[in-house]
Amino acid sequence: MPTRLVIVLITLMLPSAAFALPEGDGKALVEGVCSSCHRASIIERSSGYSRDDWQFLASTMIDLSNNPETEGKILDYLAANFPPSDNRAATPVVGPLKLRFEEWQVPTLGQRSRDPVEDKDGNIWWVGQWGDILGRLDPRTGKMDEARLPRGAKPHSVNIGPNGFAWYTGNKNATIGRFDPATGEITEYPMPDEAARDPHTAEFDADGIMWFSLQGSNMIGRLDPATGEVKLVPSPRERSRPYGVKIAKDGTIWVACNGANCLLRVNPETMDVTEITLPQERTTVRRLDIDPDGVIWWVNSRLGGLGRYDPVSGEIKEWASPSGPKSHPYAIAIFDDAVWYNESGVRPDMLVRFEPETETFQSWPIPSGPVYGGILRHMRTTLDGKALLIHQSGTNHIARVTVDRSE
Ligand code: HEC
Repeated sequence: MPTRLVIVLITLMLPSAAFALPEGDGKALVEGVCSSCHRASIIERSSGYSRDDWQFLASTMIDLSNNPETEGKILDYLAANFPPSDNRAATPVVGPLKLRFEEWQVPTLGQRSRDPVEDKDGNIWWVGQWGDILGRLDPRTGKMDEARLPRGAKPHSVNIGPNGFAWYTGNKNATIGRFDPATGEITEYPMPDEAARDPHTAEFDADGIMWFSLQGSNMIGRLDPATGEVKLVPSPRERSRPYGVKIAKDGTIWVACNGANCLLRVNPETMDVTEITLPQERTTVRRLDIDPDGVIWWVNSRLGGLGRYDPVSGEIKEWASPSGPKSHPYAIAIFDDAVWYNESGVRPDMLVRFEPETETFQSWPIPSGPVYGGILRHMRTTLDGKALLIHQSGTNHIARVTVDRSE
């Protein structure tokens, strides 16, 4: 058989790895306009929207208002081919607690805004991962400023460090960056090892040392802001993909494994890494948090659960997440005497509260203006612990959540 024919046949026999949008007027436009930041297959994986909701969703990513004809064709096509469906439906758990969501849409569209964090002055910082943006919101006035980071930094996260500097992780240019809010000056700290490619999530310890994960490089790092020195250690297990980072009151660094069934314990003095192996082999853990008693709470992202690990007794316990095995729990934070996380694999993305005492759940859909769309990827509380800062990376929204006990 001629080689070309063999190739054609093989290609035809492959399962449709390349997603194709359904035929129809507007298909070419959608392919052109909607796949510059992400693949068009993200449209099919969504749970669909009404025409109005497609319009709102698209307006958070790209401005088509100067082109009403193009916009109309795109929206007609999307509404006809991807109407609301329940293909990723959540299983909400109703309960007595009421929440208040305050939302802000950040200025630059489609930037993949994420990881809001509060500074001492009450401003909320975020990064726009796909737009090389560091943003700051004053929630009292709604005023937002965006700073351009070095091109290609693709910041994954931001933390406020000693002296009020904003530190971001340059996930695609192998740097940690320090932004001076007073002058706008950016100082970059490159990784000292070529194999350390992707600074990911960071936390500062009580001494002002920054600890960070490098997911793809399978490492954990330490940066001393006083000297700029970076030290790196590998995770003991290959491809364990160090991800979420938190620091316990005793100074121990805890890291989640997004590629294996483990949590990692890092000794802050020696940087020795110890693995805690979690029981179910297929487990992967995006993030974790530590409660006031020093107990580690973690999400079982791949299997759809919430886990608890007591470092003193070694006891491990797990609960199935309300929306099931495909709910993909992602961000997690201890807040308001409970454990909060989100179910990113379902639509709407659900904010879930778990009360350890009664072992009960309650959950809420996370709004973005009039739609539910997007993913919460990291959440932290405000410094006074009274509010939870969340975001939706799809709809460019940052939000502040408080428990409403007004009645
Ligand atoms: C400027 C970049 C950009 C452009 C252009 C863009 N998007 Fe997006 N889109 C994003 C980002 C960022 C996300 C969030 C991805 C993530 O969280 O991983 C997203 C997510 C989505 C999602 C997932 C929403 C959900 O339900 O979770 C859909 C659907 C989508 N985009 C549709 C579109 C359509 C339709 C267009 C064209 C009209 C478009 N996008 C153009 C940046 C863009």
